[in-house]
Amino acid sequence: MKITDKIKSLFRPVTASDNPYITPVYGGRWDTQPIEKDRIPEDSLLPAVAYRIVADEMNLEGNPALNMATFVTTWMEPEADDLIRLGAAKNLVDEDEYPQLKVIEDRIIRMEANLFNVPSDCEAMGVTTIGSSEAIMLGLLGHKWTWRKKRQAAGLDSSQPNIIFGADVHTCWEKFARYFDVEMRVIPLQTDKYTINSKDILPLLDENTIAVGVVVGTTFTGQVDDIQAINDVLITHKAKTGINIPIHVDAASGGFILPFFKPDFIWDFRLEQVRSINVSNHKYGLVYAGMGSVIFKDKSDLPPELPFEINYLGGSMFNYSLNFSKGSSNLLAQYYMFLRMGQSGYRKIIGSVMSNAQYLEQKLSASGFFEILTDSNFLPVVVVRLIDDSSLTAYHISDELKKSGWIVPAYSLPPDAEHIVVLRMVVKENFSRDLADKLLADTLSAIQHLQKNPPCTKTVDSCSADKSMTKPHGTC
Ligand SMILES: Cc1ncc(COP(=O)(O)O)c(C=O)c1O
Repeated sequence: MKITDKIKSLFRPVTASDNPYITPVYGGRWDTQPIEKDRIPEDSLLPAVAYRIVADEMNLEGNPALNMATFVTTWMEPEADDLIRLGAAKNLVDEDEYPQLKVIEDRIIRMEANLFNVPSDCEAMGVTTIGSSEAIMLGLLGHKWTWRKKRQAAGLDSSQPNIIFGADVHTCWEKFARYFDVEMRVIPLQTDKYTINSKDILPLLDENTIAVGVVVGTTFTGQVDDIQAINDVLITHKAKTGINIPIHVDAASGGFILPFFKPDFIWDFRLEQVRSINVSNHKYGLVYAGMGSVIFKDKSDLPPELPFEINYLGGSMFNYSLNFSKGSSNLLAQYYMFLRMGQSGYRKIIGSVMSNAQYLEQKLSASGFFEILTDSNFLPVVVVRLIDDSSLTAYHISDELKKSGWIVPAYSLPPDAEHIVVLRMVVKENFSRDLADKLLADTLSAIQHLQKNPPCTKTVDSCSADKSMTKPHGTC
């Protein structure tokens, strides 16, 4: 072969017949053969092929940018993406190998403690967690141990701990009570009252109450429990009985909103009885799913027996967590965001998010179809119920909106307000005013469409004649 032909052959396009393993994914054999679904396949794949198969399956999912259901961050800057990749290879628990991660974690906890106005005479401490559920469990476990130690030291029975909270809490509170054997004293909601106040808790307090749970931005309506009055009642109770009952604040959603949007609203460590706070960094801390924090007002609020001392990763280290190993991606991403945004950046972003939520709330109210249940003065979440649900329900609107790509959940409120069915729209950083207008327009056309094509609104029970029509959400 002439040398020029040899060079040409080196540069000719690769075809399927050359080598099946370097065939492009589409048009190659992976495009026409099923992949293994029940067992790990025997053969290897090229990275590009495996990547495409996995990435293409993700096309079947909803679009995170249109996911109004979740409080969790759905967009970050590309620089954060790079740090996320960098942190994925480092196990956060391995402090001896990666000591700087621990330094960063402690900085984050101190920044959050300051944001939550920890008094200067307290030594706050805390840990980052996988989310608010773990943070809440660790916080409440601390209070259970403190209560038990006090009871045991006084020679009193410590077998009947209880905890007080409203039915407006997230299910993780119930999980704590069940998993850690604590009696739940749950204050039911009522029609037109979706939060708890001091009058609700007073009759439930006793010497076995380990803590009162208060929510700053409830999952269901985004409202705030009457925390200041609850704090006052517990101070009076302490003065009368000598029993010191701590408050744990669930600031999963509100913890990064109120300090920037309503700094004068007092809900945090400025209140005497507030001894621990959890926050979801993956909500308005503006990092992706997988990070929360729990902060104790003072190191005396976390019994020293709870953090475990371990030495098998080299060196001696303390660990207070439910899970052990985890990546460092979110920790680095959160540190990046604190440095990158600063308080002024958070103030601007949270200000825009609140403004868009208020806009959406006003427009939905003005449409005449909805009653607003939320107060978007506190959280950027809009929860509405249909004023007239005789011919269509919130479930139907939710289903109809899916056709335009929106994920807007419909659900019933907790007991005793379960007869109220609502739609929830959580406004996040990447939901612009234009998207708000689009969502409004799509909601109104969904209603028009449903009015022209009335859906069946019989309840499941009354629709036994045709089971095939039954939908899982309770209407058929
Ligand atoms: C008020 C509140 N607390 C706790 C949680 C649980 O948080 P996570 O999903 O981070 O475990 C949520 C979740 O949405 C919430 O809204």
